[in-house]
Amino acid sequence: MQLVNGFKLMDYAREKQLVLPAFNTTNYELTAAIIKGYQVAGLGGYIAISSSNLKLSSPKIIADMVKSTMKDASVPVALHLDHGKSFEDVKACIEAGFTSIMVDASHLPFEENIQEVRKTVEYCHFYGIPVEAELGAIGGKEDDHISEEDAKTNPEDVKEFIDRTNCDMLAISIGNVHGMDLSPNLDFPLLEEIATISSVPLVLHGGSGIPFDQVRKAKQHNLIKVNYGSDLRQAFIRTFGQAYENNNNEFDIMSLSKLAIENVEERVEAIIAEVNGK
Ligand code: G3H
Ligand code: ZN
Repeated sequence: MQLVNGFKLMDYAREKQLVLPAFNTTNYELTAAIIKGYQVAGLGGYIAISSSNLKLSSPKIIADMVKSTMKDASVPVALHLDHGKSFEDVKACIEAGFTSIMVDASHLPFEENIQEVRKTVEYCHFYGIPVEAELGAIGGKEDDHISEEDAKTNPEDVKEFIDRTNCDMLAISIGNVHGMDLSPNLDFPLLEEIATISSVPLVLHGGSGIPFDQVRKAKQHNLIKVNYGSDLRQAFIRTFGQAYENNNNEFDIMSLSKLAIENVEERVEAIIAEVNGK
């Protein structure tokens, strides 16, 4: 199956009343595990890569790899730029065939965030690609993406931000955090308030570590997407770490890479089942 357009995937989520996971990839093993996990679960979603992780390869390498890994899949998957940090990254990803874009200008003052997102939206919409933007700062650490301050989304800014940027999804900060070092503490009254104001569906970053019953509760408030990065990365890295602990002379990269794919796939399947299940 070809990569699905991001707008189509949003329609799919609405029709099926799903909150879609966005799993972060970096390399072939994570990509294979994510696509296989979607396929086994029989549900679609996002495979995402951040600007910081793209530095290891390139948008074209990632897009080509994801497209060929998707060849035999039958579930809809969009390739999403996560935490897009520059207009150059956005353009390179669109050119490479990404089908959904996030521009993260949340570190900038409100007015500059609006200008940056608006410019990206105008560009991406020309190519028929939706744009996620972020309002408020999400605490914690994700690779070299670190937010010093953890500023919750101000509901008073939401309407103006969406109206002026024309963004298609809004990533919010409501006590969700990136990575595994801090504990998430979701502010549901704030989520409810934002959900009543926002004309676009909401996105929760920092999915790893958020109890699944809270994700399912958040789903009732116009949540369309939850991002998972660290959870899969830990499963990947743990595979090699444990093998090394067992045998300091270990060098069987093939067997361990296959095992890493299996271990990550297990997490992907578990997360998909939990997010929309029960
Ligand atoms: O953008 C990616 C995520 O927000 C991942 O966060 O590593 O806490 O799951 P996480
Ligand atoms: Zn994030």
